[in-house]
Amino acid sequence: MTLWHGRFGDQSPADALMALNESLSFDRRLAADDIVGSRAHVRGLSRVGLLAGTEVEAILGALDRVQAELEGGEFVFIPSDEDIHTAIERRVTELAGPAGAKLHTGRSRNDQVATDLRLWARRELAGVGRLVLNLQLTLLARAEEVEDAYLPGYTHMQRAQPVLLAHHLLAHGWALSRDIDRLLSVITHMDYCPLGAGALAGSSLPLDPDGVATDLGFSTRFENSLDAVSDRDFVAEALFAVALLSIHLSRMGEEVVIWSSSEFGFVVLDDAYATGSSMLPQKKNPDVAELARGKAGRLIGNLTGLLATLKGLPLSYNKDLQEDKEALFDSVDQIRLVLSALTGMVATARFDTVKMRAAADEETGAAVDLAEWLVQEGTPFREAHAVVGALVRASLERHVPLAELVEADPALGAEARKLLEPGVAVTRRTSPGAGGPVAVAEQLTRFRQRLGVDTDRLGGE
Ligand code: ARG
Repeated sequence: MTLWHGRFGDQSPADALMALNESLSFDRRLAADDIVGSRAHVRGLSRVGLLAGTEVEAILGALDRVQAELEGGEFVFIPSDEDIHTAIERRVTELAGPAGAKLHTGRSRNDQVATDLRLWARRELAGVGRLVLNLQLTLLARAEEVEDAYLPGYTHMQRAQPVLLAHHLLAHGWALSRDIDRLLSVITHMDYCPLGAGALAGSSLPLDPDGVATDLGFSTRFENSLDAVSDRDFVAEALFAVALLSIHLSRMGEEVVIWSSSEFGFVVLDDAYATGSSMLPQKKNPDVAELARGKAGRLIGNLTGLLATLKGLPLSYNKDLQEDKEALFDSVDQIRLVLSALTGMVATARFDTVKMRAAADEETGAAVDLAEWLVQEGTPFREAHAVVGALVRASLERHVPLAELVEADPALGAEARKLLEPGVAVTRRTSPGAGGPVAVAEQLTRFRQRLGVDTDRLGGE
């Protein structure tokens, strides 16, 4: 029997309609949150006198039983259970008798599902945030462990200036801090309770949405019932936060792909986080990094798909909104997989700091240091830039080491030549936030502090 059997005749719904319409196959993941929401709704009905004490007891008892059945895998779904809300209400009614038939008083699945999904999302996004934090802690541990190892920093994929490996690792770490900020702000934005909005316009019954909101741990209730049942901003924002996070992970993945190539050889992946080839015996492939990159496309798709679904919807609830859940569940599932694997990969990777150093010690990596040395001597930067540029060109054209030309140059000389010695240039990156050892030591302290703050903000499981 359908929920709407009163209005309809004897004809049963078409199988094709049921197959298209159902959401139980994916929204059963909302079961625990649906029960939490129903309990609060029942307590609300009780406060305003719409349920007697015995009825409250009967319904809450049935909800406990339903919860146990669902957790124990004994809950029997039947074909007419269109979604998890229908299934739970049906079972509560079977168990609690006439009292059960009062559970849905003053409520619609429209405000119910909007509430359930908020309860689900605020918990899950915090869980994703904690996984991000684990990755950051791993990046921090690796950054501490590699001490003063350095490598070329790149712009345009061309060697630019040497930087500490720790600096490079923390660059990804700081991007992830913004992801945590975003996840937390999405949780804040979704922090109102839509329950009590009914199907779209509230109710003639004396509901207590303020009390229900507080009961469910929301800061406030909805302001407008039409908006409350239509609003999926929080899903779109969550999908964006996760998509951008996945883009950061994708960029990390791309670097690992490059770094682990024979051409670079900056990193060797642990066997546990690499794969082989079914045909080529010598291969060791960075699949984790590649999937971090590949999944980002899918998560961007989840976001754009939902935005496209939302853009043409009139107020208020429309069944199109049922499409929000699979995108959200998928994005959260996929980002969890990527975060866990990437964290393991970063934790176990072996950095080849000898190769990194050899690449970074190229003389031209110190070109700007020569120019800045001239600046310290009073030369305007533009002029200094031209002087050093000309020396670099001469060195390349005449196949003479830059160091020799620097030493022979009257404006530079032996003192300036020392800047070209291996390992010197990186130590000159001393300004706040820069990539040299002194600045990075301070950055490490600030990053550790930031992780401490974010640990508190995200709270425990
Ligand atoms: N399964 C539905 C969804 O996910 C629940 C709300 C259904 N509301 C309705 N009026 N048919 O959106």
